[in-house]
Amino acid sequence: MVTVINYADVQGTILRGYRVDLARHFILSITNAAKAGAFLASLIDGTNGFPRITTAHRWTEKPECFVNIGFTAPGLAALGITEQQLATFDKPFQLGATSTTSAANVGDIGDSSPENWIGGLSNGAKVHIVLNLWVDDDPQILEAVTLRLRTAFAPGGLTELSAHDAHALPDNHVHFGYRDNIAQPTVIGAPPRKRKIPDDQPPVATGEFLLGYPNQGNGTYSVQPPELSKNSSYAAFRIIEQDVAAFDAFLAEYAEKAGVDVETLAAKVCGRWRNGNPLELQPDAPGEPLPNSQINNFTYVSPDATKDDTLGLRCPIGSHIRRNNPRNAAITGTDSTHHRIVRRAMPYGPAYDPAKPDSIPRGLIGYFINASISNQFEFITEQWNLDSKFVKAATGPGGKEAGNAFFNISGEDVFLGVNDPADSSFTLAALGAKGKNNTVITGFSRTITTRGGAYVFLPSISGLRYLAALPNQAGM
Ligand code: HEM
Repeated sequence: MVTVINYADVQGTILRGYRVDLARHFILSITNAAKAGAFLASLIDGTNGFPRITTAHRWTEKPECFVNIGFTAPGLAALGITEQQLATFDKPFQLGATSTTSAANVGDIGDSSPENWIGGLSNGAKVHIVLNLWVDDDPQILEAVTLRLRTAFAPGGLTELSAHDAHALPDNHVHFGYRDNIAQPTVIGAPPRKRKIPDDQPPVATGEFLLGYPNQGNGTYSVQPPELSKNSSYAAFRIIEQDVAAFDAFLAEYAEKAGVDVETLAAKVCGRWRNGNPLELQPDAPGEPLPNSQINNFTYVSPDATKDDTLGLRCPIGSHIRRNNPRNAAITGTDSTHHRIVRRAMPYGPAYDPAKPDSIPRGLIGYFINASISNQFEFITEQWNLDSKFVKAATGPGGKEAGNAFFNISGEDVFLGVNDPADSSFTLAALGAKGKNNTVITGFSRTITTRGGAYVFLPSISGLRYLAALPNQAGM
């Protein structure tokens, strides 16, 4: 059956990458619901000099800016969504990113604890809206649209708690030096990516990214009231600080300990060389960047012995990309199409120059989009990034004596794990029964800290219209 999505009813960032260089994310609190409703109404249609909410509809001329909007559970409540209705939403969304449950699930503890978050994000009850503005590469447009929005916040019944900027680094690189923005799920019914990067993975059911469509489990995520359900989605908004000097120091120290060069260890912890080439296709050296037609076209477990990497000898089972999308049920015991996410994040802060060390905050900021935060963002983080035990027994072509995947992963994700030196570890696998020839590095610290977060609901355009009118109906 062909899935037809009404793109004009879907917020653009869910299904489209805007391919822009600049972003500004406003964190807002609603102080007057009726006025906020009117603000929202102007934004939906781009009236009163407002930029218009960007939909997934195809544009003939690229807009000068892209705008999307997400609401937290307290934000929906402030507009008049009732407690009974909110109880039908995804559980982590109801609890909010600052809840102790969610924080524990995703490793937001210690320095990363919500109580330490910046820009008012630590007070989850007051964070109502994340308003996103993206601009191609013209800072003047960013400032002009910002001015227009800021002038409207107070009369729109909104208080700005903070704003967070991001900007693309050359060639889609992120701090730590890796090329990013390669792998994204192919969502059934979504507009095709302009920059085609084919893979051999199954397309993912629309319902994993939009409410109201069948998902991979043949169920349908939905919420009450029905006006908010179809074509809406959820996202984890994250501000993740990266300590580049600490990561470089980790690579230098542990490459020596593991007996490999720095670039090899950098590739092993990620699963890709810093130029984006995957270890599965380029196991020994980075090589020249592969064309887009090849760079994501691989899997980890294959009946073809020349391609099979069940044991993680080429790409460690505990590497960032393999943990976050194991691509194949053979090792995880679950099909990863149930847990895919769309990533819309961009670096913030200046590129780090090791010749001029500084402590300016830098990292990654943006959305991790899914139709179920519990089954996707939180599942991936809790079950795969912060745990190694998801790997089921699986032997490669050489049988038990050659090794078993179960023994070839340890610790947490090097990027996203909590990585307390007391028990952090990462395994570089080698052939041999029960991991006897593996190299395991231990005792390293976390180099990434969560600085902020919010779980938001990204309503459909018709859902936004419903929300805009709600405070007046409810007499708020
Ligand atoms: C500062 C933090 C992070 C850094 C530096 C980082 C870095 C990277 C890099 C370099 C890639 C490979 C490029 C690509 O395949 O497009 C990647 C892929 C990926 N990352 Fe992250 N990432 C970060 C945070 C996260 C978070 C918070 C999640 C979600 C929990 C996540 C999930 C993924 C996924 C799903 C992929 C694609 C895997 C695939 O399909 O092969 N990442 N990341």
